[in-house]
Amino acid sequence: MTNTPLDRLDADFRAAMRQLAATVCIITAGKGAERRGLTATAVCSMSVTPPSMLVCVNRYGEAHQAITAADSFCVNILAADQQEAALRFAGQAGDSGATKFAPYGWTELATGAPALDGALVNLDCAIASATETESHSVFIGTVRAIRFGSETSPLLHYNRNFLSLVNQTAPMQRT
Ligand SMILES: Cc1cc2nc3c(=O)[nH]c(=O)nc-3n(C[C@H](O)[C@H](O)[C@H](O)COP(=O)(O)O)c2cc1C
Repeated sequence: MTNTPLDRLDADFRAAMRQLAATVCIITAGKGAERRGLTATAVCSMSVTPPSMLVCVNRYGEAHQAITAADSFCVNILAADQQEAALRFAGQAGDSGATKFAPYGWTELATGAPALDGALVNLDCAIASATETESHSVFIGTVRAIRFGSETSPLLHYNRNFLSLVNQTAPMQRT
């Protein structure tokens, strides 16, 4: 058995996770000046019955408190042309808090969490449970409303790059 030496584990883990290609989402919560959001790839479908999403959010980011206070969140699955929003909600455009929301259009669905216009899909969720780890909370949300956007490529993140599925989109199947 060969364990990776502890002093290499951190760097190796980061390198390994860069190979875990993922769809980029923005998770949002709150209303008006209390709105907060973050770019996230630690997002997955958890169950169909009831329809549930699992998201992992850093406890020390400003969106965490807004999600907890609102008891709800919206998962916005980004379209390939929304890379600028992905960077902004990852804190890479120099703004923070509710000002991140200003350049975009938003709609309230069931819970009041902001749903990003132009996203591939918005999944509006009420929090069913929250589990804290040292750095992150694992939120499970029961889906209360779904809005579909236009059929285009999702925005993907792989090896520190944003990518799209050029000419490889598959039609959305709603049945
Ligand atoms: C591609 C990508 C994926 C990310 N995924 C997550 C994630 O799943 N969970 C998380 O807490 N932060 C994630 N981050 C980091 C947050 O987007 C970033 O820390 C953000 O500034 C947090 O905003 P906040 O301070 O308003 O909460 C990701 C960043 C990028 C660029």
